[in-house]
Amino acid sequence: MDYEVLNGLLRPKAIAIIGASAQEGKIGYTVVKNLIDSKYEGAIYPINPKTPEILGLKTYKSVLDVPGEVDAAVIVVPARFALRVTEECGKKGVKGLIVIASGFGEVGKHELESQMVETAHRYGMRVLGPNIVGILSNSDNNNASFAPFLPFPGKAALVSQSGALLIAMDASSYTRGVGFDKMISIGNMSDVNFGDMVDWLDNDENTFCISLYIEGLQDGRNFIRAAKEAGKPIIALKSGVSAHGAAAAASHTGSLAGSGKIYEAAFEQAGVVRAANLNNLFDRTLALSLQPPMHGENVMVITNGGGVGVLATDAAERYGIPLRFAPDDVQTELKKYMPEFGSAKNPADLTGMAGREWYEPSVKYAFAHPWVNGLVVLYCETAMTDPMDIAQGIKAAVDSTGIKDKPITVSFVGGEKCDAAMRWLVENGIPAYNAPDLAVNAMGALHEYAESRAQATTAYERYTDVDEAAARKIIEKVRAENRNMTEVESKDIFRAYGLPVADTRLATSEDEAVALAETIGYPVVLKIASPDILHKSDAGGVKVNIKTAEEVRAAYQEILKNAKAYKADADIHGIVIQEMAPWGTEVILGSVNDPTFGPSVMFGLGGIFVEILKDVTFRVAPISPAQAYKMLSEIKGAPILAGARGEAPRDREKLAEVLSRYAQMVVDLGDVIAESDANPVIVYEEGAGVNIVDARIILK
Ligand code: COA
Repeated sequence: MDYEVLNGLLRPKAIAIIGASAQEGKIGYTVVKNLIDSKYEGAIYPINPKTPEILGLKTYKSVLDVPGEVDAAVIVVPARFALRVTEECGKKGVKGLIVIASGFGEVGKHELESQMVETAHRYGMRVLGPNIVGILSNSDNNNASFAPFLPFPGKAALVSQSGALLIAMDASSYTRGVGFDKMISIGNMSDVNFGDMVDWLDNDENTFCISLYIEGLQDGRNFIRAAKEAGKPIIALKSGVSAHGAAAAASHTGSLAGSGKIYEAAFEQAGVVRAANLNNLFDRTLALSLQPPMHGENVMVITNGGGVGVLATDAAERYGIPLRFAPDDVQTELKKYMPEFGSAKNPADLTGMAGREWYEPSVKYAFAHPWVNGLVVLYCETAMTDPMDIAQGIKAAVDSTGIKDKPITVSFVGGEKCDAAMRWLVENGIPAYNAPDLAVNAMGALHEYAESRAQATTAYERYTDVDEAAARKIIEKVRAENRNMTEVESKDIFRAYGLPVADTRLATSEDEAVALAETIGYPVVLKIASPDILHKSDAGGVKVNIKTAEEVRAAYQEILKNAKAYKADADIHGIVIQEMAPWGTEVILGSVNDPTFGPSVMFGLGGIFVEILKDVTFRVAPISPAQAYKMLSEIKGAPILAGARGEAPRDREKLAEVLSRYAQMVVDLGDVIAESDANPVIVYEEGAGVNIVDARIILK
């Protein structure tokens, strides 16, 4: 990212409006008026070949006629003039274009769009848009857009792929009291994309939280990099998570990956907090822009009502921060600020009798207590208490502790007085919501941020004991012969990456099959080896638990007969003889080459867990063993690996290493591997390892 150039584009000291108009109702008029109304302090140069003056400002026929320097040019002429005016801006030395005009890639005119970007790049300019609303910045008094006004001032920045949504959020920032310093529309992202925006906003002194509305990322890996490097919270609302790419997917993993699960994984890996919907984007933005992350697991809830306390307790479980009973010293102290019939456990119920004189000391004590990692304060309006008094008590209590690295969120439930008190709290840096679950959800976001940040910054180290060259040699051979990869070849590639695959050898005759079975040791499994038969069981091409030479011969003949019946012209390489892995827990590993994020891996339990329950989790590869270990705990079936119902715990450490090695394999060979899976993989008791029974690689 060229920081200075983007600075010129996004914090310009002089703006030209190309296509400015004196005609009310035109976008070229609105942009000039908005710049004047927002009290923009830089130079405003309206460009129009016919009109001498617009809204009292002198106009120029071309940007080339402007006497001073121009940092940014807002393009509001029809798309057909785009190349000409871009060329002129380049010659003028403009740093960046804010292309509001539509009529480019979104209507199929990709050629025009890329020509505009190429022209801009020739002159060192960057392009925001096209097909955008513009940019808005409170700290720069800059409304270079056709949105009606600057947003409710605050510490967040919104970057939106949808222009209409940005305008809607601009207006509702006032009704919701969620403040933004900047709102930036990025539309078609012909040049400047989400990664660039995260990089730039991370350096912006007026932005404390980066909120994103994303329909689709272009360069997913660059976005992950930018988000990982960012020192500020990022929150994303991602729409359009339906089955993209799923239809074309050849493998199981491919079809499971289609539902936005890789986006979810990528956000988590990058330390990006998710928003569930638009309301949630506002609510979480408020918390992340005002409060520090919640490190640790202990949330304390203080309330004056049992009902809201229970609602908060339920929500805490839902948002990943389940409540625990407060330690004895906390309970003993809080008991002082409630009647006999109150409860100090957690939630601490000060009861409806509680006024400021109880709220203030209990908030102060709980907020300062080292056991408490995050505090949620709830209040229901009562006839005996004044909401504003309570709000001021909460703020005074927090301030008196001097603590700045622990979060607090608040919910006041009641009428107008509560609304006014919550406004006051927000103005004073404490996020406040009109329902208890929202305050807990906000705390959940602060916890999610701390957690995913920790994951995003864990170190990754490559395995060096791998033989990429050997793997590539096999791939080249398969490609030269223009066929699918066989099981034995797939397993050899797995083996080159240090992955524990079952002893598997190819027999081309009955006698050889018997000899190999004896070398491997009974019992064995016999499987058809044909690049034309991928679903071996369906073709009657698998016989298990073969214990004698006679059984080998019989199975050999039967598999061949079944295979020929299944597909008469199948290219049959022979029969694979494989060690029969002892019973253990079956899991599945898979990989896809995601169009947005590239090589990504999947993990799940085998059988019905993956087939019916779709209980799987994804990561963009590569991943460290620690990240892989986290994946193992993410699926619903995790207790099975941990040793449920009296079973011994499974070898999760080895499984995590296997997953990490596998991820390295699919990244290293990402240019040639389209999809792969290891299914089933048998996981044994702790210390007893993992055995990859079947493996399959599909080349691009
Ligand atoms: N340099 C400077 N001004 C020029 C020019 C040039 N090369 N060529 C034309 N103009 C002037 C026109 O004369 C006109 O001024 P006037 O009102 O004084 O006649 C002005 O630029 C605008 O051109 P016009 O042809 O009237 O276009 P328009 O205002 O009807 O529409 C856009 C222009 C860009 C707004 C329109 O094409 C468009 O893309 N609208 C969609 C915008 C949008 O929705 N964006 C996405 C939001 S999510």
